[in-house]
Amino acid sequence: MLGRTEAEKLLKAHGQAHVLCGFDGLAKEQQEGLLKQVEELDFDELALAGQEEHAVHGELSPMGAVSIADIEKRRSELEAAGRKVLAEGKVAALLLAGGMGTRLGSDRPKGELNVGETRTLYLFECLINNLQAVVKECGTTIPLYIMTSEKNDADTRAFFKEHDFFGYPETAVHFFVQQMAAAVNYDGKLLMEGPGRLATSPNGNGGWFSSLKRAGYLEEIHRVGIEWINIFAVDNPLQKICDPVFVGATVLSGAESGSKVIRKNSPDEKLGVLCHDDGRPSIIEYYDMTQEMQTLKNPDGSLAYAFGVILNYLFRVDALERIVDRKLPVHVVEKKIPYMDEKGQLVKPEKENGYKFETLVVDMIRMMNDTLAFEVVREKEFAPIKNLHGRDSLDSSRELMKKNGIRL
Ligand code: UTP
Repeated sequence: MLGRTEAEKLLKAHGQAHVLCGFDGLAKEQQEGLLKQVEELDFDELALAGQEEHAVHGELSPMGAVSIADIEKRRSELEAAGRKVLAEGKVAALLLAGGMGTRLGSDRPKGELNVGETRTLYLFECLINNLQAVVKECGTTIPLYIMTSEKNDADTRAFFKEHDFFGYPETAVHFFVQQMAAAVNYDGKLLMEGPGRLATSPNGNGGWFSSLKRAGYLEEIHRVGIEWINIFAVDNPLQKICDPVFVGATVLSGAESGSKVIRKNSPDEKLGVLCHDDGRPSIIEYYDMTQEMQTLKNPDGSLAYAFGVILNYLFRVDALERIVDRKLPVHVVEKKIPYMDEKGQLVKPEKENGYKFETLVVDMIRMMNDTLAFEVVREKEFAPIKNLHGRDSLDSSRELMKKNGIRL
């Protein structure tokens, strides 16, 4: 492990000498913990703080999708193919629940949010209900992996236990913890969250497969014959998980990944859009699209860049293994980061006060040889909860849930 003198030298060289202030007064374990954190720092990553991000891409062109109409025509064939793969135990579900949900303003795991109005209905419960529906349909228990972070792992596990896993077999649920990354203030200085502890936050949802591997689950995945993993976000209670039609369509298409998409409702809607980049699948963020791209039309008058992603993807395990050691680009995100001030008081900022460093799932799609864009009905499958009120909120999600017959 890094010694104190080396750590001091390293931190000084990067303008972060303040990290070791008060080091001598720390208990031995705290000193060791801090030196370990310093050893793991990625100074190249920290240097990105405050720099403007430029998406690097080649020649972009639109990507079509299997439309809702195409899917309806082939529904029974696709569904049967998907059910077969699911019944053979070849598909696992993986819930991305490592995020901090800072926009909701709660310290609890986001999945603990009660979306009910006249009764209690937790987000985690909604997702388990959706998964149970497929299990019933296919007659097989689907393994469920849940990615947490150091910040919410204990709470998440305790919550599932306390609620008897919402009726899902406990033996089919496997938790693992994602990696953390240090955070800095607007001057690029590392923040501390306590004596001898750097402030850290989960390093984005892009690291899910490497974290799954690090947790030792790949062996089991191979042993039980899982060939596909369906990943999904914690905050969309309407999404279908391991949807047999989606699974069937992706498997029959021969693609090594599938992406659920919705048709944009306006040219400037804030959604990442699937496209081709030098012939490979890619997702372009709405803020990187030129006006011309946003409004480009097909001969029939529909938008050319029409399909936005909803964080529900299916990946073939062997394709994930091929890319697992490739470095994903790091995105710098402004966030509210709790920290310890000079007086040793913990501050929970009300507004953004610094930068976090994250890798994103969308960048994994760029590493795939291909992806099947699979259109779903927005009102039936997309009700994200990012905020309490307004756009993509608990309010808007509740409206959609009620429209879909969910008693709240
Ligand atoms: P978001 O991008 O909405 O982030 O996550 P968030 O952390 O939940 O919320 P805010 O931005 O702080 O308000 C989309 C999905 O990715 C997961 C989240 O749990 C959610 O399911 N995620 C995000 C992770 O699993 N790990 C991360 O580090 C970040």
